[in-house]
Amino acid sequence: MLKTHSCGELRLQNAGEKVTLAGWVHRRRDHGGVIFLDLRDREGIVQVVVDSATAPEAHKIASDTRPEYVIQTFGTVRARPEGLENPDLLTGDIEVDADRVVVLSASRTPPFAINEEKPVDEALRLRYRYLDLRHRRMQRNIIVRHRSVMAMRKFLDDRGFLEIETPILIKSTPEGARDFVVPSRLHPGKFYALPQSPQQLKQLLMVAGYEKYFQIARCFRDEDLRADRQPEFTQLDLEMSFVESNDILELIEEMLIEQVETLTEKKVWKKPFPRLKYQDAMAKYGSDKPDLRFGMELVDFSDLLRESSFRVFSSVLAAGGQVKGIRVPGAAGYSRKRLDELSAFVTQYGARGLVWAARQPGRTDDGFPKVRSSASRHIAPAEFDAMFRRADVEEGDLLLVLADKPDVVAMALGNLRLKLGREMGLMDDDILALAWVVDFPLFEWSKEENRWKAMHHPFTSAVDDDWDLLETNPGAARAKAYDVVCNGWEVGGGSIRIHTPEHQSAMFRVLGISDEEAQARFGHMLEAFTYGAPPHGGIALGIDRWVSILLSEKSIREVIPFPKTAQGVDLMAQAPSPISEEQLLELHLKVVE
Ligand code: AMO
Repeated sequence: MLKTHSCGELRLQNAGEKVTLAGWVHRRRDHGGVIFLDLRDREGIVQVVVDSATAPEAHKIASDTRPEYVIQTFGTVRARPEGLENPDLLTGDIEVDADRVVVLSASRTPPFAINEEKPVDEALRLRYRYLDLRHRRMQRNIIVRHRSVMAMRKFLDDRGFLEIETPILIKSTPEGARDFVVPSRLHPGKFYALPQSPQQLKQLLMVAGYEKYFQIARCFRDEDLRADRQPEFTQLDLEMSFVESNDILELIEEMLIEQVETLTEKKVWKKPFPRLKYQDAMAKYGSDKPDLRFGMELVDFSDLLRESSFRVFSSVLAAGGQVKGIRVPGAAGYSRKRLDELSAFVTQYGARGLVWAARQPGRTDDGFPKVRSSASRHIAPAEFDAMFRRADVEEGDLLLVLADKPDVVAMALGNLRLKLGREMGLMDDDILALAWVVDFPLFEWSKEENRWKAMHHPFTSAVDDDWDLLETNPGAARAKAYDVVCNGWEVGGGSIRIHTPEHQSAMFRVLGISDEEAQARFGHMLEAFTYGAPPHGGIALGIDRWVSILLSEKSIREVIPFPKTAQGVDLMAQAPSPISEEQLLELHLKVVE
């Protein structure tokens, strides 16, 4: 190799050794006769000293180098003079006295500094991702990602899982997100799809008798992107035969705890992970991926206010809506401006605004709590009193109340809770509030499409007692499904699957998929289930999200080497891009504007 040591590994005990190093010039300080080069590689930084008195040739070359030049240097390790040690560097006790410097590769001035961790415009970072990835933070992220994936592989291998690859060119069976499709040259007018997940294939591996499967699987979904979503992302996908939900939950729990404890300094909030029912998560947090690091739960006042003289409340309740609120401890003194801001915040979720009520010290002559409120002229003192009791509102607390349709209340109050938690510093990134959400409904009603949709996916089994409900009341059927959530992120989801053709057909019928259509789209699954399918279930974890959580990163783009923008664009190579007329012709395609 062109080097004997890495830049980060030299210590005092190496003093006196002759070494050869190679790396990038991180920083160059020219002190006239002596040049100091901070030399950087993946493992760290070391100070190289080039003295014109002892190495004039090397000094001449070093004086021409600039940041990000790639150099090789030959020299001797020595202790730094007393008082000049650098405690910030692991190599800070030593330096390398260079007698030769070779420039292996020059560098233009980079578009942003690599030797600083200052914020840089993300578009610029993505345009020059190979330079951005040189940043220490990014290198750490990629290394932790590697360690996490390696640990998953080891953990599962130790427990008898087989890592099995499944194809990337598969059949398009849209359900859930939109498919990315690939035109076939050999079969005009026909298309492959890229897998949204290996769901069907891993189930077929169970039918095939492999019992314990996993894969670090790339998945592709053509959906709207956000900080926690990319068009292609990576799952730890796994499936097991002859299991019940608990087996999967315990396995994953053990693996995630091991990852947190070996890869980070963070704390797992509660062991074993708490299990929340979907309905309770929605009721208390307005979300199926609640951030459990702090309280401020949503409190339901609906039953207290049906007869309210305040029309906003009573009319919403009469129409099947809800009145719910959040207690904000110690916030009775919020300014009008702040309260208006909170009110404006909820309108983006379709709410009309907030009623706020700040509990003041003391009581009225009638014995009711004193209140300053946006609706004090409409809401009776006894009603405030009842709400305060229900929500444990004490003097000096603020109550924020919202009346609307249940889904609007959940979205608006759930997000308001998160905003307040964030702003009040209640989200400690060193705590990982991992929990299971269980007891999901099997179906959700799609207003846009006017039909039932599978809440997880169409292969999820109903709870044993609920199969009859598919015919009578699908909305009440519960699924054998579970999600693992952490600090407001959905990290993973899975279920026990359907393994009989009868149940699978019953499922498709509720989804409005005719028998013919089911045959055309999922015939291979239905057929496979007629040849002895074992009971089976599994889960998939979003590795990008999980690693972001381990690293306290707010966007999964920070842990993906080459991510796409929120518009799905690769800014470095400029994809997507047009293809040539010949390619189009070969693929039997015509672009229509
Ligand atoms: P699901 O669709 O819930 O389940 O996906 C599992 C996990 O994958 C992650 N994830 C994503 N990460 C980044 N970008 C995206 N666009 C994206 N979409 C999903 C999430 C999510 O929890 N086949 C089933 C799993 C099963 O039933 O076994 C599935 O794919 O962390």
